[in-house]
Amino acid sequence: MNQEVRFRLKHVIIFLSIIGFLFFYSLSSNRDCESEQSSRSNGDGADAWEAGQGRDAFLPNRRGPTIYAVTPTYSRPVQKAELTRLSHVIRLVPNVFWVIVEDASQTSSLVTNLLRRNGLQDRSVQLFAKTPTNFKLKGKDPNWLKPRGVEQRNEALRWIRNRLKHDSLGDGGTEQSHSIVYFMDDDNTYSTELFEEISKIERGKVGVWPVGLVGGLMVEKPVLNRDGLVLGFNSAWKPERPFPLDMAGFAISSDLLLENPQAQFSYEVERGYQESEILRHLTIAHDMQPLANQCKDVLVWHTRTETPKLDAEKTLQKSGKISNDGMEV
Ligand code: UGA
Ligand code: MN
Repeated sequence: MNQEVRFRLKHVIIFLSIIGFLFFYSLSSNRDCESEQSSRSNGDGADAWEAGQGRDAFLPNRRGPTIYAVTPTYSRPVQKAELTRLSHVIRLVPNVFWVIVEDASQTSSLVTNLLRRNGLQDRSVQLFAKTPTNFKLKGKDPNWLKPRGVEQRNEALRWIRNRLKHDSLGDGGTEQSHSIVYFMDDDNTYSTELFEEISKIERGKVGVWPVGLVGGLMVEKPVLNRDGLVLGFNSAWKPERPFPLDMAGFAISSDLLLENPQAQFSYEVERGYQESEILRHLTIAHDMQPLANQCKDVLVWHTRTETPKLDAEKTLQKSGKISNDGMEV
């Protein structure tokens, strides 16, 4: 009898423990749900966002050398769309400093507003340099007829060299801080991963990597030897060029630009030779630093935006109206 009571008691204790465990378990998981819900529904969810939980997890290059991204740009219907795409990449890469150079005789409010709305005022500069009329493409000219971005990139180089010299003087002439210059056209497509690669460029080096959809090929890329050194390039278009690669496929350690003040772009060179024109002062293929997984990854594409057909807009203009009256498109 006594044994039977003990046996029942044991069962009751086990039963109560299970109930107790389930009760506390359900309480704690409810609390998790509630806190998750409150952070989701809370209008101040931005607090958590700003504190960087979550977002920082995918921000590359929180530290790293400054990358001066040089973008020539000119006024046209797709300009704001192109620059919006670009600015959102730049927002994600904190060590990029954006040097935006307008092909115009003054800076525009479109670009000023874009920088402000993206919170990029503190890590950008808005410059201008107008392409001389005799070098500017006209109406139906094919775009390969004249080089583009020459005036603007040279203005950016002038500004960057000045700033770097100034910075080193400010340091009391001590060692120059390491930075990198990348020519970032406004219509290409850039992965944020590219900037992690660019950040690896060493002092005295020009980094190189593949570019997708350019020169009539799916990819133009440096060809490496078995030791991982750059032997040459696979380009199909004008492979006889000293450096047959696209502007989007290399970036330069800034000390090289200070040591070689004559290195810049020029109207005097043959079509497709702008890249070779600047690089010939700075490096030889063998000394270039291959990046992007030994040049096996494509992290930038030479995309080009179709010019929109605005026939209806032109008709509208004839009757003295425009569809974007008072709107910046
Ligand atoms: C190719 C290369 O990718 C360019 O880097 C190079 O400058 C160009 O050829 C060339 O050989 O001149 P592509 O797509 O043909 O580029 O040139 P665009 O994208 O039309 O222009 C390059 C950059 O110059 C762009 O950032 C564009 O906004 C700017 N640009 C173009 C001007 O500032 N003004 C212009 O009148 C035209
Ligand atoms: Mn382009």
